[in-house]
Amino acid sequence: KIVFVITPTYKRHTQKVDLLTLCHSLSLSRTQVKWIVVEDSNNPTPLVSNLLSLCPVSSVHLSVKTPRKKTLVAKLFWKIMHGHRGLEQRNIALQWLRDNYSAKDCRGGVIYFADDDNRYDHRIFDVISKTVKAAVWPVGFAGHILYEGPVCHNNTITKWKSWAVRVGTNRKIPIDMAGFAVNLCQLFEKPEVYFDNAWSRGQLETEFLYQFVTNKEELECRGSDKEVLVWHVRTAKPSLYSGYQLEHFLET
Ligand code: UGA
Ligand code: MN
Repeated sequence: KIVFVITPTYKRHTQKVDLLTLCHSLSLSRTQVKWIVVEDSNNPTPLVSNLLSLCPVSSVHLSVKTPRKKTLVAKLFWKIMHGHRGLEQRNIALQWLRDNYSAKDCRGGVIYFADDDNRYDHRIFDVISKTVKAAVWPVGFAGHILYEGPVCHNNTITKWKSWAVRVGTNRKIPIDMAGFAVNLCQLFEKPEVYFDNAWSRGQLETEFLYQFVTNKEELECRGSDKEVLVWHVRTAKPSLYSGYQLEHFLET
């Protein structure tokens, strides 16, 4: 088994420490992992290349810059309606997988989207590796309550714990990006599957998963709500003397 861990990443003060933390979690994995790091930039940067060369995990380094909206109005409209982050980056990682694997050699592979700022217990990669088609598990701090996601009994979903369900928002599958995985073979069974910028805000996970399953009961229920293995967190922006420019800190 091999877990392909797809990580979009962009330039900011905490980028290096976030990626370093993720490198350490991946290094502890007992399941084989391949880390696909996709920078939100025109070209791969030395900061990320150096970090990956020092990280003991096998990796692939790609880059694609998120197209910026031209006018302020377009920017604001897009932010309110969609506002997706890391979407183009995840898509070129999917493209890379389709280019480098095929329906013949996909069987041992599982795809997981691991944002650079979350925290991962290395045992989550063992859980991910068991994915037959598409699997889900709870994610800590993902949406207003301590954790969000499925409650499992014998690997089937018995209910969902989600703030969204309670307040009746329209997320059909109330799960964070860090709360699901898809088998690599699915990419070849569904060659058209990508993330779509036109999807509404907050619907990326639901829309993506519904390309593989027709109802959420088909999802394999993994992990336990008693022991969360992945947390959606954000690294605080460090407070810095305003005279310093980003470049002063982003030494490789
Ligand atoms: C939440 C979800 O957990 C994400 O999976 C989802 O993509 C995102 O919302 C969304 O709204 O689209 P959140 O913590 O709000 O995540 O977002 P970030 O962690 O800031 O960004 C998600 C990923 O995209 C990160 O790996 C980040 O490094 C990357 N990113 C962010 C870029 O590549 N470019 C950017 O300009 C911003
Ligand atoms: Mn995040």
